[in-house]
Amino acid sequence: MSVDAGRFPEGFLWGTATAAHQVEGGNHGNDWWAWEQVAGHIKNGDRSDPACEHYERFRTDFDLLRSLHQNAHRLSVEWSRIEPAPGEFSSTAIAHYRDVLQALRDRGMEPVVTLHHFTNPNWIAEAGGWENPQTAERFVRFAQRVTDELGDLSRYWITLNEPTVVAYQGYVRGEWPPGKRDLGAAARALVTLLRGHWMAYERIKQRHPELRLGLAHHLRVFDPARRWAPQDRAVAAAFDRVFNQTILRSLRLGRLVFPLTRAGNASGPTTSQDFIGLNYYTRELIKFNRRYRAELFGQRMLPARALRSDLSWELYPDGFYRTLLSLRRERLPIYVTENGIADGQDRLRPEFLLTHTNAMLRGIQAGAPVRGYFHWTCFDNFEWAEGYSAKFGLIACDPVTQERRLRPSARLYAEICRANRLPATVELPPAPQQSVEPAGPADRR
Ligand code: FCB
Repeated sequence: MSVDAGRFPEGFLWGTATAAHQVEGGNHGNDWWAWEQVAGHIKNGDRSDPACEHYERFRTDFDLLRSLHQNAHRLSVEWSRIEPAPGEFSSTAIAHYRDVLQALRDRGMEPVVTLHHFTNPNWIAEAGGWENPQTAERFVRFAQRVTDELGDLSRYWITLNEPTVVAYQGYVRGEWPPGKRDLGAAARALVTLLRGHWMAYERIKQRHPELRLGLAHHLRVFDPARRWAPQDRAVAAAFDRVFNQTILRSLRLGRLVFPLTRAGNASGPTTSQDFIGLNYYTRELIKFNRRYRAELFGQRMLPARALRSDLSWELYPDGFYRTLLSLRRERLPIYVTENGIADGQDRLRPEFLLTHTNAMLRGIQAGAPVRGYFHWTCFDNFEWAEGYSAKFGLIACDPVTQERRLRPSARLYAEICRANRLPATVELPPAPQQSVEPAGPADRR
């Protein structure tokens, strides 16, 4: 791909990403809503209703995003609305999502639709969630129905959002539903997720070969806390293998790889992605610590003087560049399906935007075939266990008044989207120097 100095490729998609449960409000039929009712699960006792009332406000919300020069939008459909009971599909919910996708098309915005973004209908959760192998078949039935009904309105589809995060948060750390701490269960859940993806890919491609299907991978950079320490290097490499490479390799090879081979036996087609969806946020430094047995003996650290978000995630644009380069081996187009920062004061977001889009441009110039970028996210929303406290929005959204207020970053991002290039006059700050300290208690992921 040829890149004229500083410009992104022709036809580049620029947008923001959301997930149904985080913005819609009124999703009372899934495992997250049930989880939110239990004291101690969500910071400040927050609940996902009303979130941004986006279920009702989607048209004016899309007007606003279009006025900010976004030409694409990633969203998810809520399984529990569409299939409230096994095999029973709601024509009202389907009609709603047709309206949503049509509203994007009417505004000249390309939709990218995620079928599963963390939430399960209660009936799926009650039947054992992703630990139950049958959940894969049930997911495929849902995926088939949705793409049959909505496939004419969207070309790009994502089967699953961040399967490793689902397994890690729900089954290793136990901070998300179903709240387990059981490595065996985590591996079994991942196997079912992978089978669900494989089967959904095959089923949908048979019926709608024109659709482009992918999976949104959460990839983090793991570096050794002490570069000279062989134990740190070994543990950081193990983190990378388990967290970043397990799914990518399994998909590339069309079979499970270690450690999943210990939890099941499954295979799939060797082609099951038409593009790579990349969610990149941060890196972690890993220090060997005997006491961290359940986490592969790795203690997660931060560089001492690192710039960090409200959630204590390091700003590390170079990791974005490194990740994009590492994805060249997949030989598939890449869409950045999420990238963003929790920053209620908009203190660091402008710099985050500039340094990360710059890292992406460098990645493209070095041969990573990136075709679009979806910033996480447009509106402050229900940030899972962090509730409304973690503010990832380019636009502030008050869940009480529902007022939307542009942060300065929203205008900066609009300018990048409009020009399809980085602003000419920006000076990028030097990278901070590295020494390390333990990650703060706020760092929950
Ligand atoms: C990602 C999730 C998204 C949001 C961001 C901050 O892992 O996909 O829903 O929580 O993190």
